[in-house]
Amino acid sequence: MAAGHGTRMRSRVPKVLHPVCGRPMVEWVIDAARRAGAGRVVCVTRPGEGVAERLPDGVEVAEQTEGEGTGAAVQAARAHVDEGATVLILSADCPLVSARLIEELVGAHEREHAAATLLTTEELDPTGYGRIVRDGDGRVERIVETKRTEGVPDHELAIREINTGTYAFSGDELFSALAAVGETEGEHYLTDVFPLLRERGQAIAAHRSTDTLSAMGVNTRVGLMEVERHARRGIVEVHALAGVTFTSPESVEIDAGVLIGEDTIVGPGAVLRGATRIGSGCEIGPHSTLISATVGDDARIVHSHLVECEVGNGVSVGPFAYLRPGARVERAAKVGTFVEVKNSTIGAEAKIPHLSYIGDADVGAGANVAAGNITANYDGRAKHRTTIGADAHTGVHTSLVAPVRVGRRAYTGAGSVITGDVPDGALGISRPEQKNVEGYADRFEER
Ligand code: UD1
Ligand code: MG
Repeated sequence: MAAGHGTRMRSRVPKVLHPVCGRPMVEWVIDAARRAGAGRVVCVTRPGEGVAERLPDGVEVAEQTEGEGTGAAVQAARAHVDEGATVLILSADCPLVSARLIEELVGAHEREHAAATLLTTEELDPTGYGRIVRDGDGRVERIVETKRTEGVPDHELAIREINTGTYAFSGDELFSALAAVGETEGEHYLTDVFPLLRERGQAIAAHRSTDTLSAMGVNTRVGLMEVERHARRGIVEVHALAGVTFTSPESVEIDAGVLIGEDTIVGPGAVLRGATRIGSGCEIGPHSTLISATVGDDARIVHSHLVECEVGNGVSVGPFAYLRPGARVERAAKVGTFVEVKNSTIGAEAKIPHLSYIGDADVGAGANVAAGNITANYDGRAKHRTTIGADAHTGVHTSLVAPVRVGRRAYTGAGSVITGDVPDGALGISRPEQKNVEGYADRFEER
């Protein structure tokens, strides 16, 4: 497998590390190879390119330190190939290559006892691709490159069958022929091994496919968008077949690797990223973003933003809630409108329905946090925790100055600034008593 240089992406990020649905392009290709049953997976990169460091576990790295071109790239992997092995060559910038197609290719290669089998298609615009030149008997003779068309005869430019750049080789024959490939315009072309193999009496097979997605390469960010559009649709279809309802499938973005249970309904504008896991029977959306969030069964998440948090069974979140890292909302609890929760546990059946900030807190089961409660968790130097006991009821607009504890079944008075612990079952109230000034309006208006 060969990694790209990335110049045409106009990016500091190497091309093959650009994500498609949250997963670097090169990982899609590695994943397809593995699902097709590949044993050793080798990635060819350039030294210092930054790709080697980002590869999944178990992938071997071969550095292309000398020579240019696809032939030199494959040559760089030679030491990683076992004698007698079948070598599959894939391009890391074709992320939609399907495992099934790879299996078909290897199957055809083995059936035909070929030294090389290449994957071709007639379904793409052939401009710029290598064209398959066949002999009178229909056997592959050679590949003519058409990036530059000068000197390429018209009858060869008229060929629609192209080389997709995906091949199965007998490794021994491949490396033996590669050693004899010369330079063309400063490069070693992998495709130049075909005439050599033929001269040596080896069989070359071609597997013609109509699966154009597998051959779709990314060279620019426009190409990346196109590939991502197909990948996104594919992910939605896999979830739909697994029992997830999408009420607006075109409007959702779901990263590769997200898990969703049966009978969950994903509404318009849902964005599910990273390692997000959602149980069954949930309603997600309209318009919610979940980034590496874990959600149990039968939860409802509406117009909300969730990051690295845990939501239990039957929980209701939103509309317009923000759950930040370390938020853990337990069974059947509610986090409602304009509520932000960070690094806090909200116990089972507790309710925080409106307009609150709960940070670094432990809210007990069944507690009710009234509208507009704020944990003052930061004293300018350090963060401190707030505890609200099980079945406690805080009054509206309570400020909880941490570290502080409101006991079990305790209450706080509306508008209180709670700076000291409230014992179990007690009422904590801290506000100036109300004073009424009689006749004020009349005196005010006379002035
Ligand atoms: C190649 C094929 C062409 C085929 C096309 C399909 C050759 C000579 N031509 O052309 O027949 O139709 O793919 O897409 O092989 N790479 C390296 N090191 C290098 C050069 C390339 O790792 O020194 C990698 C690239 O990053 C890429 C792959 O090899 O992943 C293919 O190289 P690229 O330059 O894109 O080849 P094409 O000219 O597209
Ligand atoms: Mg290319």
